[in-house]
Amino acid sequence: MSAAFPMKEQIGFIQTDALTQIAAADTERTLDDARVAVLGKKGTLTQAAAGIKTVPPEDKAAVGQLLNAARAAITAALEAKQAALREIADRAALAGIDATLPARSLPVGSLHPLTQIRDQAIGILRRMGFVLADGPEIEDEFHCFDALNTPADHPARNEKDTFYFDSGKLLRTHTSSVQIRTMEAQAPPIRIIAPGSAYRRDEIDATHLSVFNQLEGLYVGTDVSLPDLKGTLEYFFHGLFGTSTEVRFRPHFFPFTEPSFEIDVKLQIRGQAPRWIEVAGCGMVDPAVFDAINRSRQDTAFDPEKTTGFAFGMGLDRLAMIRWGIKDIRLLIENDVRFLRQFG
Ligand code: DAH
Repeated sequence: MSAAFPMKEQIGFIQTDALTQIAAADTERTLDDARVAVLGKKGTLTQAAAGIKTVPPEDKAAVGQLLNAARAAITAALEAKQAALREIADRAALAGIDATLPARSLPVGSLHPLTQIRDQAIGILRRMGFVLADGPEIEDEFHCFDALNTPADHPARNEKDTFYFDSGKLLRTHTSSVQIRTMEAQAPPIRIIAPGSAYRRDEIDATHLSVFNQLEGLYVGTDVSLPDLKGTLEYFFHGLFGTSTEVRFRPHFFPFTEPSFEIDVKLQIRGQAPRWIEVAGCGMVDPAVFDAINRSRQDTAFDPEKTTGFAFGMGLDRLAMIRWGIKDIRLLIENDVRFLRQFG
């Protein structure tokens, strides 16, 4: 009798035993125990396979084939049983559930009105070639005031109106500081817009918050003229409020532009008679601003003899309030879903 004979017998025995265990397993856990007992590192078949070293050479091929066939049969049985147990578990999980009930609806969110108006404003200006720019919200007096030709005794610089840090830095009171940041870093031509937060120590009421949102614009080149300013902003407000909207430029004063204007649009806010509403400030960049930039850059990239430009700034909160007839600015920061749901 060949020495391999007990080995062949043994393999048959292991296989029969394994298939019996697999058939008896009634949970994934006991099935896995059965798998480890046979095919694991110390499993019966694994150990039997290690014994092939002792099989005489002429029997090795036959024993090897038996081992492989046993492993294949056991593996197939394991997989089949696994699938069967899964199916039973899935059925049990679904028991008592009525699959014909309509699905529960998922509430769909919507963009905040401020986000909507900001994105729309950016979209119109980008079509005209403006690119996004930004700057820090914690600013210094140079970028927020001095370089913008704002004298030391200007009311906006007052401690009562502006949040100052002990260091002398401050929370920017307007996004106009981004004009300065941009011109320090880039030479003309420049065509940027900068949406962002601005901060003022205002008493909070229906039209004032201490943090609000502005959108700044700046266009600097060699032949930038007042008609360019008017055409650009008229196009902008037509895009925002409709092409039949009347737009007017009313002379005003800002330290950093000369001449300066406030822009009014004639609109009918929901439930009110049509009237002129102020929506933005603008003007031709004051040469004093270019002088300040050149001094800061230590070059003459913004030669006031050759360089011209226009700037504009507007309050996005205010635009949203006008667009939707929102009576209280605080609604924009309270995140009351009943309010926000109306903008979906
Ligand atoms: N910075 C001004 C403000 O906060 C708005 C403004 C006016 C910006 C005229 C400009 C401008 O760029 O040219 O009230």
